[in-house]
Amino acid sequence: MLQIDKKQKFDVLVNSVNQCELCVRMRGRCKVLSERNGSLDSKVVFIGEAPGRLGADRTQTPFCGDQAGKNFERLLSLAGLSRTEVFITNTVLCNPRDEKGNNAPPTLEETRNCSLHLSLVLDIIHPELVVTLGQWALKALSTIAPHSIDLHRDVRKPAKWAGYVVLPVYHPGPRAVLHRSITNQFGDFYVLSDILGGRERSRTGIQKRQLPLLDVFQPSVGQKVIFRIVRQLGEVSKFKLAKLLYLLDWRQVRTTGDLLTGFYYIFQKNGPLATSLSLALDEMEGHELRFRWRGGQPIYATGQDIRVAMGLTLDTEKVIDDLVRECQALTDFQIKTKAYLTDPIRDILRRQKAGERMLNHPIFEGRIPAKPNEPE
Ligand code: URA
Repeated sequence: MLQIDKKQKFDVLVNSVNQCELCVRMRGRCKVLSERNGSLDSKVVFIGEAPGRLGADRTQTPFCGDQAGKNFERLLSLAGLSRTEVFITNTVLCNPRDEKGNNAPPTLEETRNCSLHLSLVLDIIHPELVVTLGQWALKALSTIAPHSIDLHRDVRKPAKWAGYVVLPVYHPGPRAVLHRSITNQFGDFYVLSDILGGRERSRTGIQKRQLPLLDVFQPSVGQKVIFRIVRQLGEVSKFKLAKLLYLLDWRQVRTTGDLLTGFYYIFQKNGPLATSLSLALDEMEGHELRFRWRGGQPIYATGQDIRVAMGLTLDTEKVIDDLVRECQALTDFQIKTKAYLTDPIRDILRRQKAGERMLNHPIFEGRIPAKPNEPE
């Protein structure tokens, strides 16, 4: 298909999508399909779940502006790919929300309503590879043509579907690590890189399998908070840092009703953990942070290459500094105990004692009210 032809077809599709009112709960919401989704000449189309409330619904660019977007961009760069050479879309093109205003998964009916849009996108681009990100994208494919791909069983195995090659991987949202470790997610994107001819790409000098450093470092609030903590302490173990972040956010939830860092916390064997902590640290390592092992423990200290301003508001810095001062002298055991004495962890421990399986349980679930229009 000639490029001009593709562009015309795409414009017609975008126009018709913009007039769509099929899904009642998404009427009036922005439709995330435009040239911002990527290149019509792309060899690969990624299919996510739905635009996020704090991400694509605000930025009108899929996987952009929220934690899922950050994770995705990082995985993409691992595969040696940039946004401009791929095309990214979603199972549904608008942001579905529950009655409290939080992100919600699309329903099967909504997925069916949007399946014509998805199938036309695939027809126009006709990619060599379709990468499904999570369960809903696989469901979306099955509303176009049947398949028997099972995410759990078939993850990172290329499969044939409706004349395309499909690579199923997990959704890169903050909860993904509940189902698939970060290491395995990295592995999935290495496979993707290989399928797309990664070895050729590296020989021709195109970036491949670089450490996941983006060209421009745009620290999240969580990363700025980490930086402040490390700077105040000089150095800190990852173990202690994880607890400090949790304690800080719990304090903030009680005073302002919301998290300070924007991290997503789950309960693990060693207590509370922000699911994207490792990613956030990796991104800063060798720059804002220095890493080393001490007595088998990962330790972080302030680095020499501070790429952008890492400042927060004075109020936020004071909240961090107060907590750091309070916890400075605590040993790992003592800070873990302090975290275990907070209400959310006590609740979890109580339920665990009563026989419930609480490993990986979200910690702040039900404790943070939704704020529909608040940017991340
Ligand atoms: N942003 C998107 O565009 N899609 C998702 O599935 C999640 C976040």
